[in-house]
Amino acid sequence: MTRQRVLSGIQTTGYLHLGNYLGAIRNWVEGQSHYDNYFFLADLHAITVPHDPKTLAADTYTIAALYLACGLDLQHSTIFVQSQVPAHTEFAWLLSCITPLNWLEDMIQFKEKAVKQGQEVGTGLLTYPVLMASDILLYEPDKVPVGEDQKQHLELTRDLVDRFNYKFGTPEKPVLKRPDPLIRAEGARVMSLTDGTRKMSKSDPSELSRINLLDPPDVIQNKIKRCKTDPIRGLVFGDPDRPECNNLLTLYMILSNQTKEAVAAECQDMGWGQFKPLLTEAMISALQPIQEKYQAIMDDRSYLESVLRDGREKASAIANKTLAKAKKAMGYALPL
Ligand code: TYM
Repeated sequence: MTRQRVLSGIQTTGYLHLGNYLGAIRNWVEGQSHYDNYFFLADLHAITVPHDPKTLAADTYTIAALYLACGLDLQHSTIFVQSQVPAHTEFAWLLSCITPLNWLEDMIQFKEKAVKQGQEVGTGLLTYPVLMASDILLYEPDKVPVGEDQKQHLELTRDLVDRFNYKFGTPEKPVLKRPDPLIRAEGARVMSLTDGTRKMSKSDPSELSRINLLDPPDVIQNKIKRCKTDPIRGLVFGDPDRPECNNLLTLYMILSNQTKEAVAAECQDMGWGQFKPLLTEAMISALQPIQEKYQAIMDDRSYLESVLRDGREKASAIANKTLAKAKKAMGYALPL
């Protein structure tokens, strides 16, 4: 029996944080042996916000090494760089010509990021979801594991499939395959350490708002020490008036590998002074093996390069096939 296919990616902007790990990579790793997996470094998406050409390549290698350090296994997973498979941009153009402008203007992430950039906002930020749809549809995946914030982009991808198939396929013979999002309840929305109502994000100007996967123990300790809490004694899940409390308990639960019931019982009478060292310890222990493995991988650059070279070859073969199928359906003269 052929395995279902999974595909996902992360923007190569700066460091990865706990939200990227718990919302995405951890789930990729846990599920990988059941699927045929494709995970890429979204370096074309990385330039939709102002970027530094001096660090783009280094960030790409760093994140590729982190994918491996977090446990992606090349027996099950192919890792590649988005910009090294040109089919992504070509297909994005084809899809953009059938995407209604108002679908893109309605995207929450566009609205949020556009406000931050003001007059400087680039067209790429608007058309970003079309590139994301291209990334996905070229690989005909069954499932796309992401955090909650990507849900709207996946809905747009599914709507684009229907539109493309309606225009260029037949009900009996659809051209593109509609993927399902895979969003786990736990960790799908990790919140900022300085404001429990906002998601943890790379673009937050405050470093104190997030834990990066490569933060050393003393930095983690300091960030937890200074993170926002509330003046109430007794820590509980799910109180809408205590978003920080819910977020920190959830992080502790996931990172210490305990059930919700066990954590609820352990923390119900605790104050923050007692809880914070526990959370710090759980975080440091969960990240330490990843950091050690990361260092070993970074010390062997030729290995990392060979992983990405092999990945590019495997990914290109699949992507080019889907692109040719889509172009044929759209009526293009294909090279003979
Ligand atoms: P990006 O790079 O912003 O985030 C990568 C993954 O991490 C998840 N995530 C979070 N999960 C939980 N809590 C958080 N605070 C948090 N912050 C980020 C995201 O949901 C995502 O799964 N557009 C995508 C990259 C992309 C992509 C794709 C993903 C490009 N093409 C095709 C899937 C398929 C993005 O910017 O993710």
